[in-house]
Amino acid sequence: MIDIEFVQPDGTRERVFSREGYTLMEAAVRSGVAGILAECGGACACATCHVVVDDAWSETVGPPNSMEDQLLEMIDRAPTSRLACQVKLKQKLDGLVVHVPARE
Ligand code: FES
Repeated sequence: MIDIEFVQPDGTRERVFSREGYTLMEAAVRSGVAGILAECGGACACATCHVVVDDAWSETVGPPNSMEDQLLEMIDRAPTSRLACQVKLKQKLDGLVVHVPARE
């Protein structure tokens, strides 16, 4: 199992456990993590699954793909922003920490 921690804008931390092969978005939605809406269902078209990867994990998670990068350009992104639907969970991500941005 892969252990993921979502940090909410108010500092609240939620731990989610998922199997390898799911996306970070799927793990969040299945566990009802607040702020991960995933309105397009993972089609890389809505950016409502935006997360900011903790600095300590950015290298392991890696950069966004080109389609994802274009979508991130349209929102208020951070240097380590990713769309959770584009992050496939692998065992090397066990212990991952991501931040949920404040939504307006
Ligand atoms: Fe829509 Fe990720 S769920 S872009």
